[in-house]
Amino acid sequence: MLKDQNVVLGVSGGIAAYKACALTSKLTQQGANVKVIMTKNATEFVSPLTFQALSRNPVYTDTFDEKDPAKIAHIDLADWASIFIIAPTTANMIGKLANGIGDDMLSTTLLATEAPVYIATAMNVHMYNHPAVQENMIKLDKWGYKFIEPGSGYLACGYVGKGRLEEPETIIDVISNDSNISPLLKGKKVLISAGPTIESIDPVRFFTNHSSGKMGFALASEASRLGADVTLVAGPVHLSTPNGVNRIDITTAEEMYQEMMVHFQQADIVIKAAAVADYRPATVYDQKMKKDEGNLSIEMERTKDIIKELGERKQNQFLVGFAAESSNAITYGQKKLTEKNLDAIVINDITTDGAGFGGDTNVVTYLNSKGDKSSLPLSSKTEIAKQLLQFIRSDFEDELK
Ligand code: PMT
Repeated sequence: MLKDQNVVLGVSGGIAAYKACALTSKLTQQGANVKVIMTKNATEFVSPLTFQALSRNPVYTDTFDEKDPAKIAHIDLADWASIFIIAPTTANMIGKLANGIGDDMLSTTLLATEAPVYIATAMNVHMYNHPAVQENMIKLDKWGYKFIEPGSGYLACGYVGKGRLEEPETIIDVISNDSNISPLLKGKKVLISAGPTIESIDPVRFFTNHSSGKMGFALASEASRLGADVTLVAGPVHLSTPNGVNRIDITTAEEMYQEMMVHFQQADIVIKAAAVADYRPATVYDQKMKKDEGNLSIEMERTKDIIKELGERKQNQFLVGFAAESSNAITYGQKKLTEKNLDAIVINDITTDGAGFGGDTNVVTYLNSKGDKSSLPLSSKTEIAKQLLQFIRSDFEDELK
């Protein structure tokens, strides 16, 4: 979620400034661009050089230290930020912000920014509970500032209570899950296929497979949550349509083929999680077939290989296939990736417990055309969908560069 986001991290003067170092490191590991502003008091606790090394950017400590004469640094930083975090935030900084005081680099930049601001507080428990501080926080809350409440425990001042700066991982989680952050797939058109197909023999009988549609629906739901415009071509399944998703119900492989072809051209990302029939009865009887003595042979013919055709037609689309394999999963998956001209493939080894058809969990390996391989351990299909979309989005962006 934080990849490519421009994060300004404001560090004010408290002992918890040391935790802001870990936060800087974790933000950059997530692919965020981080620029740090320190108050003068913060520099008493940690050296600006530490933040410079961790963020790989100059650190701002003085409003009048204009590094580029063509720009006014605090306005430039305020405009650059897509996310603003203050960690730790002291009672003093809360007071300044709540009263419109801009008397140093951090407070002036805060007044000038339009980015969402996250305030991770850290102070002595009595300071935190002081009516002035509480009132200032209520005021800021009403103005739309987001608070990351301090945790409880042993405080550096010797007290035990509420006041500890939240752990960097928690701060990142809170921000990543905030819908105010410009969603990763905003403006992208994502086409997903899910579920089985049904190939009839007569009005009573048909061939199908065990796909429940859960994996594809989880992807559709998550892609929509990430801001994508999602079209979901769904085989016959008993699942409700995820919020905001345009669902097209189909029954046969041929119908899926037709719908995928209609929507493919406009798509940015195409994910084929469906389990499509490779064969269908060569003859479909209008009337119920009567049973007879002896065995019955049914001639089957090949359906169209939808993804193969998409692989031949693709221009800028990022095309992701799935492979459900019961032996040599990686080898077969790799073969499909190459033969069908895919950009990535998600391989489920259906012999692994909790993987594949029907259940709420999966275990998969994501393999891209550059040869990067990531294994996702047993997790819910929702969690797997989240992770897969991170990989897909990142590889898709790389291909556009
Ligand atoms: O639906 P669930 O119960 O949640 O289960 C999820 C799943 C196991 C169905 C899903 O994770 C999965 O692996 N889907 C692909 C299943 C499969 O059998 O793939 P395949 O190896 O037959 O096909 C490879 C790829 O080609 C797939 O992307 C498939 O959609 C596509 N294909 C296959 C045949 C065909 N005629 N046209 C296609 O486009």
